[in-house]
Amino acid sequence: MKKILLVILSVVLFTVSFGSNKVYVGTNAEFPPFEYLEKGEMVGFDVDLAKEIGKIMGKEIVMKDMAFDGLIPALQTKKVDLIIAGMTATEDRKKTVNFSDPYYSANQVIVLNEENTDIKGFEDLKGKKIGVMLGFTGDFVITEMGYPSEKFNAAFAGIMALQSKKIDAVVLDSETANNYIKKNDNLKLAEGKGEAEDYAIAIRKADKELLEEVNSAIEELKENGKFEELLTKYFK
Ligand code: ARG
Repeated sequence: MKKILLVILSVVLFTVSFGSNKVYVGTNAEFPPFEYLEKGEMVGFDVDLAKEIGKIMGKEIVMKDMAFDGLIPALQTKKVDLIIAGMTATEDRKKTVNFSDPYYSANQVIVLNEENTDIKGFEDLKGKKIGVMLGFTGDFVITEMGYPSEKFNAAFAGIMALQSKKIDAVVLDSETANNYIKKNDNLKLAEGKGEAEDYAIAIRKADKELLEEVNSAIEELKENGKFEELLTKYFK
């Protein structure tokens, strides 16, 4: 009898201390088609990807929506365990977090009003009113070029400012830019494109095991066709 109790007790203790079956995933649901709200529900490529990774890991995924520039601080203070947010694995971010193997390749593009004819590439942005999203790679690219910019908290806010002619151009990730262009025929893309950027999942530096688990889950999804299925669902 005592033995049985002891076994039960240790199982309970084990579950309490190690068995947390939840993985908290931080994102910023203002980045279609990767993550956005549809009727109040968070949907998109990254959301599906997170769920599939969770299935393989045998963990429940809990998505948390927050400001993009709050994601890395939230990871470091353990409010979330992973960031899946179309986040580019930049050298700068690699100083504070680890990144999984890349899962998507994108680049910065310039969104313009249809009638604009004088902006062809990034050099032509000189002296123009440029909109970027706070803390996005587009923000860093424009700052590095030495151009001032107006900073928005969400892509759609920048797009709205462009449409109402408050700014001349928006620098944004290609896939999200395309998403807005498809829905607004008064918008177009400039010819010039930025360098390729890899989207990857951010993980705390200390969580080496989690990094391996995530990488092997990504690999499995690529092998079993699930990954391709998601690409088709959102991008084709
Ligand atoms: N790829 C860009 C970056 O890493 C923008 C990502 C924005 N993602 C989002 N969920 N709002 O800075």
